[in-house]
Amino acid sequence: MGTSIRLVHDDLRPPQPSTRRHLLSMADVSRDDVERVLGTARVFASSLDRAVKKLPTLKGHLVVNLFYESSTRTSSSFELAAKRLSADTLTIKSAGSSVDKGESLKDTALTLGAYDPDVIVVRHPQAGAAHFVSRIADAHVVNAGDGKHQHPSQALLDLYTLQQELGSLEGLHVAIVGDVLHSRVARSLVQAFALMNMRCTLVGPPTLLPEGLAESTTDIDAIRDADVVYVLRMQHERMQAGSNFVPSLREYTAKWGITPERLTPGQKVMHPGPMNRGVEIDPRVADCGDALVETQVRSGLVVRMAILYDLLVGGPVGVRALAAAEVA
Ligand code: CP
Repeated sequence: MGTSIRLVHDDLRPPQPSTRRHLLSMADVSRDDVERVLGTARVFASSLDRAVKKLPTLKGHLVVNLFYESSTRTSSSFELAAKRLSADTLTIKSAGSSVDKGESLKDTALTLGAYDPDVIVVRHPQAGAAHFVSRIADAHVVNAGDGKHQHPSQALLDLYTLQQELGSLEGLHVAIVGDVLHSRVARSLVQAFALMNMRCTLVGPPTLLPEGLAESTTDIDAIRDADVVYVLRMQHERMQAGSNFVPSLREYTAKWGITPERLTPGQKVMHPGPMNRGVEIDPRVADCGDALVETQVRSGLVVRMAILYDLLVGGPVGVRALAAAEVA
């Protein structure tokens, strides 16, 4: 695990009765939760085929995106998801904000909390940051990635993508290849796959495979047996300066890079992005018909709409409930 933010007693407001629900970790999510959110996402996906894509469902709600780390997909899709549901949005990136002047996460969360947001979406380099915000702000909190700990909305959008592409998730075998050690996506996926009775094999250099997370091997040929190959990039930003997990990137690519030759025909390939073409993934694989990378991004929008809907409206939903929200 990365450095956790310490919860200091004085930092916490006295416990208050709260009906707030959060999405902080796949460890807190049940199979019923997954099925409900994916079902809602499917309903929202059908709404996006219309000429007018905006729904009035979350009108009057405020969604704050608080990002302390770079993001293209997660940040844009949560913002667009909120907008498609007619919520107001505020996106704060730490660079250019008063974080540059030394403002703490606590004071930043309290400052934004003064606007009474309904949801705060948090990305932060330290494990536990989203949990910390959930303890001090009176809002639903979504963990959009905390260090190498968790990225639950990515896991949910990947389950949605697999279900849409391959039908049933039951028994599917996914090989996760690459820098698993520093990957919050891998930690959330391993839990998500276990929840849905899927099989997961971790593949990569021995230095980048954490012990005890899931079945693992350093043999790249093991990916041939999987239905899906899920590729991870080297996360240099989480490696200490001077640490060498592989002799060189060139050697990594030669041994574990995903090329057409290493795949079984028909295998699906996923990547959470951003991709480093020519390092962990050959451009011919990234651009092939079995690569689901752009599908994952499209799934991200509807799944994040479903997550916001689930937190703010709650309960089992279906077409009827959404239709009622549309005419409200
Ligand atoms: N998959 C993912 O989290 O991408 P971003 O870093 O671009 O948000």
